Amino acid sequence: MRWIFGYGSLVWRPAFEHLERRPARLRGWARRFWQGSTDHRGVPGAPGRVVTLVEAPEATTAGMAYRVSDDVFEAVIAKLDHREKGGYERRVVALEAHGGARLSALVYLAGPSNPHYLGPAAADRIVAQIDRARGPSGPNDEYLLRLERWLRDVGERDAHVFELAAALRRRRAAPRDPRASDRPPPG
Ligand code: SIN
Repeated sequence: MRWIFGYGSLVWRPAFEHLERRPARLRGWARRFWQGSTDHRGVPGAPGRVVTLVEAPEATTAGMAYRVSDDVFEAVIAKLDHREKGGYERRVVALEAHGGARLSALVYLAGPSNPHYLGPAAADRIVAQIDRARGPSGPNDEYLLRLERWLRDVGERDAHVFELAAALRRRRAAPRDPRASDRPPPG
């Protein structure tokens, strides 16, 4: 039996066969909306922002661990390799599952050398991008808000995700200046 750890869309939409799932934590890595998406939550030329993991010794990322039977593992990986083809690579990590069990799991993460990587930006710029982006899997704000909802449902905190979700709500509540643009000035 093998485990797969999800910390982004895989927490609310695994869409692969599994025998069991358990909330789990990954220490030493922080979840960040630093990966560009041109195949799910954006399009080429107007990428959305989705999560990846960045090494951070003090951080912990809450996600979902899925137990997959050996019989279907290769087929599941082939499906996930396709789904995560926009810059993600597989890696094996050590998790702490709910209840204290230690698990070794496969995770997809997108490092800074992949061509879609966007890196850090101010929260209001990230949110402006998320607010307007949309791709074949749907609007980018849905990705952010579903992740926030999942974290709250399982009683986990993630300051980065919560800050962006709050900023998105503030942005939507604020009256818009029709002359304002989110795009950087030319030059
Ligand atoms: C994940 O969910 O674990 C990877 C990133 C994503 O598909 O959103």
